Amino acid sequence: MRPAARHPARGAGPRAFVSGSRHNGKVSTTSLPAPDHSPRLREALLAADFTVDGLLDLLGAPAYAALARSETVPALRATRGDTPLETLVRLFLLQRPVPAERARAALPLAQCLDDGWVVESGAAVASTEGGTAGGEVGALVMATVDVRPYGGPDGEDWFIVSDLGCAVGGASGSIGHGEGVVLGVGGASTTLAGLTVRTPVVSALDVGTGSGIQALHAAQHATRVSATDLNPRALLCARLTLALSGAPAADLYEGSLFEPVGDETYDLIVSNPPFVISPGARLTYRDGGMGGDDLCRTLVQETGDRLADGGYAHFLANWQHVEGEEWQDRLRSWVPRGCDAWIVQREVQDVTQYAELWLRDSGDHRADPEAYAARYDAWLDEFDARRTKAVGFGWITLRKSGSERPSVVVEEWPHPVEQPLGETVRAHFERQDYLRAHDDAALLTAHFALAPEVVQEQVGLPGAEDPEHVVLRQNRGMRRATKVDTIAAGFAGVCDGSLSAGRILDAIAQLVGEDPVRLRDRTPQAIRLLVEEGFLLPVEAPGA
Ligand SMILES: C[S@@+](CC[C@H](N)C(=O)[O-])C[C@H]1O[C@@H](n2cnc3c(N)ncnc32)[C@H](O)[C@@H]1O
Repeated sequence: MRPAARHPARGAGPRAFVSGSRHNGKVSTTSLPAPDHSPRLREALLAADFTVDGLLDLLGAPAYAALARSETVPALRATRGDTPLETLVRLFLLQRPVPAERARAALPLAQCLDDGWVVESGAAVASTEGGTAGGEVGALVMATVDVRPYGGPDGEDWFIVSDLGCAVGGASGSIGHGEGVVLGVGGASTTLAGLTVRTPVVSALDVGTGSGIQALHAAQHATRVSATDLNPRALLCARLTLALSGAPAADLYEGSLFEPVGDETYDLIVSNPPFVISPGARLTYRDGGMGGDDLCRTLVQETGDRLADGGYAHFLANWQHVEGEEWQDRLRSWVPRGCDAWIVQREVQDVTQYAELWLRDSGDHRADPEAYAARYDAWLDEFDARRTKAVGFGWITLRKSGSERPSVVVEEWPHPVEQPLGETVRAHFERQDYLRAHDDAALLTAHFALAPEVVQEQVGLPGAEDPEHVVLRQNRGMRRATKVDTIAAGFAGVCDGSLSAGRILDAIAQLVGEDPVRLRDRTPQAIRLLVEEGFLLPVEAPGA
């Protein structure tokens, strides 16, 4: 493998394709397979039913779910036979040596050995876990990478390639691995994939591609996909993920954030960055290496110049809650000019919970207690120095609207949502455009329909005649709930697109004996909120 090309000055456009394995000046000791025979390997994996459905059938739901928690014992018990599927599970998911003969029945073994997907690993004896029958002795092979079936949104059979033993991400995902480890799909990866607006685009960029999962999703609706990563091993994994999933190759660039792509612009930018706020960069997949939440801020701010008009950018991020500062103001200050933004805080952890989470992630809680205490202390020192009392986690979406009056919504929504949310995200920005273009007078002449699957809940004492308050609840998308007064509830209930908002309000005024002029005056604010939150959808007037 040759090292990645050096970086020319910014402004020169995207840079060299990566094929190296250097990382932070170090050479990776573990090489990764070549993608040369990926189509044949893919064919073999599919023929053996090495797919999400195939695994569920073979392992059963509990063992399958246990695997996602890094627990392998139930899956080992379920793969004691010698079918090709069991062999593949043992080889690629459980990372056990299997007899070469069994591997040959499941794979194009010669090509897989040539390309480096598997390596020879000594000889089997009768008691080997692979179940070699009757004292037979033969060669064993082992996988060099984790290959995990992953179901695409339209039932596609994809495969995610990552470092051995790291496919599940989350707690314990990286334990025992080096700084340049490449993790597989975790909860954050699928959250980001679900949030992404999936309209067809010409160009997409995945910043910090890792195993390539976001690039793989983007390849379904982008003509051209580019991906960057600081870690060349990650770029090689991403290349294998795409090849083995039957997706077109992406342009892969080594470097930090946007540095390797110069001034190029993209219709879609996605990033699940190394957002962890830590006292020092140790693990490339999670520690950004900049102070505090600077990496996330830089990523968001620099996106302004990299997004094409109308383009979307989606990020996961952590942000500091700093003493004397509103967290919402901090995030608003990150939004680049010309971009609308929707920022949703999903979770807040105090600094102790946060430090413990990431100390566990890297296995530090299993280390010598003094070293653990020193690391914990360092984490709290870092937060003290930054006057940080808590850390928020959430989603940031930008859309390049070019508007002089950008819509920036920063909110907290810790409740369950219905993924995938991409269409909900797109519709949010469409409604923001609508609201920007309609003042209160225009809202009164407009027509609205109640969004599908909105229900009304009345809350009050049992037996009371009138509810204390009324809640409108969405059963789709963000699954929002909002408290409304009886006028707004009545208004929403009547909205079927046939009458203008003003006409509906006049009828309500007559019904409740209120002055229609006053009602027309005070209600647009509530209508605006119901539209913003997706309870009411603007529709064409009948016959328009
Ligand atoms: C949390 S992982 C995300 C991987 C994958 N995109 C996903 O969604 O699962 C973050 C990735 O960013 C890479 N990375 C770390 N620092 C970076 C930087 N400064 N610029 C670009 N990528 C970086 C890491 O090597 C890692 O692959």
